[in-house]
Amino acid sequence: MQIDNKLPVAPSAILAKNSGTFDSNWQPVAIETPHALTIEEIKSIVNDYKIATQNAIKAGFDGVELHGANGYLVDQFLQDGSNYRQDIYGGSVENRSRFLFEVLDEIIKIIGKGRVGVRLSPFGTFNDMNDSDPIKLFSYILSELNNRNIAFVDLIEPRASSAGGSDNQISNAPNTSEIFRKKYGGFLISAGGYNAKNALETIANDKADAVAFGRYFISNPDLVDRLKNGVELAKYDRTTFYGGAEKGYTDYSFYK
Ligand SMILES: Cc1cc2nc3c(=O)[nH]c(=O)nc-3n(C[C@H](O)[C@H](O)[C@H](O)COP(=O)(O)O)c2cc1C
Repeated sequence: MQIDNKLPVAPSAILAKNSGTFDSNWQPVAIETPHALTIEEIKSIVNDYKIATQNAIKAGFDGVELHGANGYLVDQFLQDGSNYRQDIYGGSVENRSRFLFEVLDEIIKIIGKGRVGVRLSPFGTFNDMNDSDPIKLFSYILSELNNRNIAFVDLIEPRASSAGGSDNQISNAPNTSEIFRKKYGGFLISAGGYNAKNALETIANDKADAVAFGRYFISNPDLVDRLKNGVELAKYDRTTFYGGAEKGYTDYSFYK
């Protein structure tokens, strides 16, 4: 249940399997079957993104990243494993992508195309996500994003299992940046399962324009400096992830 005792919302009323979330006291709780959004509610959420962008500008941010990955709301619209709708927001690839582009175009109106990025996770299975034809779906999205001329696209590699929630690497996962690099003409960031070695190789082999780090940026406040100077990266403490205080959050050391 949400704070107002309402159900969570989604494109379709489908229960995500093998997934969980946390309550306000950081206790794990089961996921509920969501309420399928009405068209009116969808319009209101598009407007919420507009307000969120205005708030980000007021708060002093230089730009915003639209989160279209990892089974969150935008991704649920995109993929046919979570979108069973039969209206203009479901069915064809174009219809399933409509919510993403309505939101994105609203954000662009507020902050400008050069200050918006989009995060996507093709082939990602976190939060029970799946699509019958990810190459067709994400090729279409990237071709539309090409027309928008935004600041960047950030693609998550599916080898990082549970979106970084586990340290197991999925060894036979498709290489997303390799598959989609040629489909996108703009600035491409690749994320997921990077260390110093494979990050530098990815850039050297032009598989992406930049590499993003999650877990190692938690444990290395001087990550960029360490990468530049070939200094070994400090290992993170997984037991301090997801909630808590400064321990494991702001208390990792600088190497100098
Ligand atoms: C503690 C923690 C919290 C995260 N929270 C989110 C989140 O709220 N939404 C999301 O899409 N990804 C989240 N991620 C995934 C990261 O953004 C990143 O994609 C993932 O960790 C893979 O990159 P890495 O291998 O460099 O860690 C989280 C990861 C960690 C470790």
